[in-house]
Amino acid sequence: MKAICAFNVNNMELIQAVTEAAVELDTPIILQVSKGARQYASMPYLVNLVESAKTVLPKLQVKLHLDHGDSFEICKECIDAGFDSVMIDGSHLAFEENIALTKRVVDYARQFGKEVEGELGQIAGIEEHVENEKSLYTCPKQAKEFVERTGVSSLAISIGTAHGAFKYKAPNPSLRFDILEQIHKEIPNTPLVLHGASSVTPSDVATINKFGGKIENAYGMEEKLLAKTIPLGVKKINIDSDLRLAFTAKLREYLAENPTHFDPRQYLSAARAHVKQIVINKISTFCV
Ligand code: G3H
Ligand code: 13P
Ligand code: ZN
Repeated sequence: MKAICAFNVNNMELIQAVTEAAVELDTPIILQVSKGARQYASMPYLVNLVESAKTVLPKLQVKLHLDHGDSFEICKECIDAGFDSVMIDGSHLAFEENIALTKRVVDYARQFGKEVEGELGQIAGIEEHVENEKSLYTCPKQAKEFVERTGVSSLAISIGTAHGAFKYKAPNPSLRFDILEQIHKEIPNTPLVLHGASSVTPSDVATINKFGGKIENAYGMEEKLLAKTIPLGVKKINIDSDLRLAFTAKLREYLAENPTHFDPRQYLSAARAHVKQIVINKISTFCV
């Protein structure tokens, strides 16, 4: 396998779309939930929806992961609730504080055999707790020290990707492959995580705008370019915005073309099927 895709989910339709795509391609995936997802759906729904997916799809290979955990307490809560892994995001803290917080989570998780993702360097765009104007790239030497002192299983790095649909002001952005190479050289055995890996699918943006939406100046990174990070150590690819755009595009199109329909099962089926197709494309590009 090349890399594993981690998809952000927060409702039944997204979970169904992602898991059905994964089973169809016989590929392991990660479902991850953010603080916003927990606030929207609540933990029991999310955990049980993932359990339900495993029951409905016995061949499903899935792990449930906490995305951007911002405190020891939330990481502990998710580990105790049965998550397979957690991310502790101390990237906004000073280096030593980030190490201390991350190590505390690793020490707790280790007792239960759970894996922990840390983050070093700040990824541009809107994270849950931090809003940055620019990217603060990960320092390769610090990355080595961070991994050694915390014992994290994987490391989220900042090399030029950004969160959200409004990542870049112009098309064809680039990535700092030079920094990635140096990081991989320092920690060749640590799986690296690429956040902000949505490509802001141009056709979905166009559909949204065609059917009454207003998503302007939204550009992502080409999938071909993102895929080049895989031989350089990136083993987990985080995707959220492209699923949101896909869902919204199909929903807008469906409702515009079927003005008499008002049964959520009809328009949600259409949106779910389109998200599934986008997930199939992502898995085919990055994972098989
Ligand atoms: O990296 C952040 C994810 O895209 C989660 O976004 O906080 O709006 O759920 P959210
Ligand atoms: P996107 O906004 O590019 O989908 O990034 C998602 C992400 O990094 C979740 O942690
Ligand atoms: Zn992220």
